[in-house]
Order: sequence, then structure tokens, then C-alpha cells
Amino acid sequence: MINVINDLEVRALEKISQAKNVNELNETKAEFLGKKSPVSEIMGKMREFSVEQKKEIGGRVNQFKVAVEAAVLKRLEEIKEEEVNKKLASEEIDVTLPGKKFSKGSLHVLTKTIEELEDIFIGMGYQIAEGPEVEEDLYNFEMMNLPKDHPARDMQDTFYITETNLMRTHTSPVQARVMLEAKGKPIKVVCPGKVYRRDNDDATHSHQFMQIEGLVVDTNITMADLKGALTQVFSKILGENTKVRFRPSYFPFTEPSVEVDVTCFKCGGKGCPLCKGNGWIEVLGAGMVHPNVLRMAGYDPLKYQGFAFGIGIERITMLKYGIDDIRNFYTNDPRFIKQF
Ligand code: PHE
Repeated sequence: MINVINDLEVRALEKISQAKNVNELNETKAEFLGKKSPVSEIMGKMREFSVEQKKEIGGRVNQFKVAVEAAVLKRLEEIKEEEVNKKLASEEIDVTLPGKKFSKGSLHVLTKTIEELEDIFIGMGYQIAEGPEVEEDLYNFEMMNLPKDHPARDMQDTFYITETNLMRTHTSPVQARVMLEAKGKPIKVVCPGKVYRRDNDDATHSHQFMQIEGLVVDTNITMADLKGALTQVFSKILGENTKVRFRPSYFPFTEPSVEVDVTCFKCGGKGCPLCKGNGWIEVLGAGMVHPNVLRMAGYDPLKYQGFAFGIGIERITMLKYGIDDIRNFYTNDPRFIKQF
């Protein structure tokens, strides 16, 4: 009988050590220690043995149980550890693999031009003002000295929303808003923003584009101040030696009005394909604020003068970076956008 238990123990310990998982281990434990196990059978037959044998066999069975239970516990620990190791191995990361590439966003080139211009103007003592893109006829035209039926309203084909509301055709209405708010005090502002015109889109026209309006109102303001300011701005944005030239022009809200050219920053004024050989490039409209505009906004034109200008942001940006189609700014082709 003792030999039978010895054999049983050898088999039990071997099978326990081979259990692959907790289920198998539990089954093996039941096989050797459960109610239907050989040792249970032996214990059931105890009555048949002599006192001496009972002592010997009983002792051996107890040893067997202790040994098997200890082996089961040990194997359980091993299995747990194996499972942790397996999980860790499956989660292993190869830190030497190349990383994923994220594409970085950046400022749109028009935003860059605006921020550059704003910085220059702030450095010259200007404040930034803004106005609505959906504007009233009153500010866009009327207060800009363009009464109803004024022929110059045709200069700017307008998107009307209602009789009195429209998409602003220029940033000049912000002039009127700023003057009304300043209530007769001196003014020095620039007003950047989007404007809209009923143009068919092509290489040089866009139904939406951007301007930066400038307005300075004070006593003793002359055209020399306008020329000085613009010379300073363009020498900063297009290069130190850039010169500014005025040509007579017409805008209803300025008198006199001028169109402003700068020396071609590519050839310095000698003449090249960019400036079509004449050395100058037109960049903006400007002039002395019309007395009617001052008066309507509460300024006495006999006491106050002002100058105003409207710079086309796309035009400056196209010149600065050699871009030949305005549509590039608005079609969002990453091959274009990523270049800046
Ligand atoms: N508002 C004019 C335009 O859009 C530009 C301009 C602004 C001209 C200020 C003179 C003074 O064409």
C-alpha cells in the first residue's frame, strides 16, 4: 500500500508540474485529492487495516496530501508569473522604430503679411481697429461721401443682402465708425479685414480679399505726413531702399486722391519683368480725408485734417513672395500653403 502511495505521489507531482494553466492545475488537484481520488478510496478502506497499518498508511496519506498541496501552490505561483511575463512580452514596444510623422500647422501667408504690417504700424504709434464684414450702406457708402445714385458706387460691385445691408466692399467704413466713436479727438488707426466684391475670380481678382485701412486725423496733417508714413512702412516690409511715388487719382472719400507706387523691390527701379519694365508697382489708394467725410463724422474740416489709405494685402503678399495667382490664397492647396 505504501508503494502504491509512493507511485501516486510521483505521478501527482509530475502532472502538477506539467499543468499549463489554472484550469488544468485545478483538475489535477481534484484528480489526486478529490472525493473520487485513489487516496480517498484508500482512506475509505481504513477499517480493513490493522491498527499498526492504519497508523502507517494514515501518516503516509497525510504526507502525500501535504506534498501535493504544496506542489499545487508552487505551480500556481509559477503559472501566474508566466502569465504576467506573457502579457509584458505582448506589450513590448520597440523604441528604436521610426516615429509617426505629424504635419505641423502654420500661419497662412496672408495672416503673416497682416501681422507683419500690424507690427510695423503699432511701432509707429497706430492702434488696431476692426469693423463688421456685413456692413450698412450708411457706413460703406453714405458716410464715405458716396450718396445713393453716386456714379462711383459702380466702381465697386456690391453684394447686397438687403436694401440697407451689404458685404463691405472696402475697409473704409471702419473710418466712419472709428471717427464717430472718437467724438472729435485725434485718431491714428489701422483696420485690417476681409472685403467682398462681385468680381469674377481670375488670376488677379477674387470676390473676397483683404485690405488694411489707415486713418490719421489731427490738426496740421498734410500729404507730406502720408508720404512719410507710407515710405516708412514700405521700406520695412519690402526693403530699406524702397521709394514711394504718388500719382493723382480719384476716390470719393479723399481729396486730393492718389494712387501709390513703390519702386520694384526685385530690380530696385531699373525695370524687370515683375514691374513690366517701368520700375514701379502700384500698391494702394490713398488721399487726404474729404471734408464731407470729416464733417459727417463730427469733425470740423476747418480745424482737422486727415489722411487715409487702403492697402491690398494680397497684392503686397504676391509682390513680396512672387505669387502670380490670387486664387492660390483661397483654394487651400497644401503644396502652396506649406511653402510659407
Ligand atoms: N477704399 C479704397 C478701395 O478700396 C482704397 C482707399 C482707402 C483709397 C483710403 C483712399 C483712401 O479701393
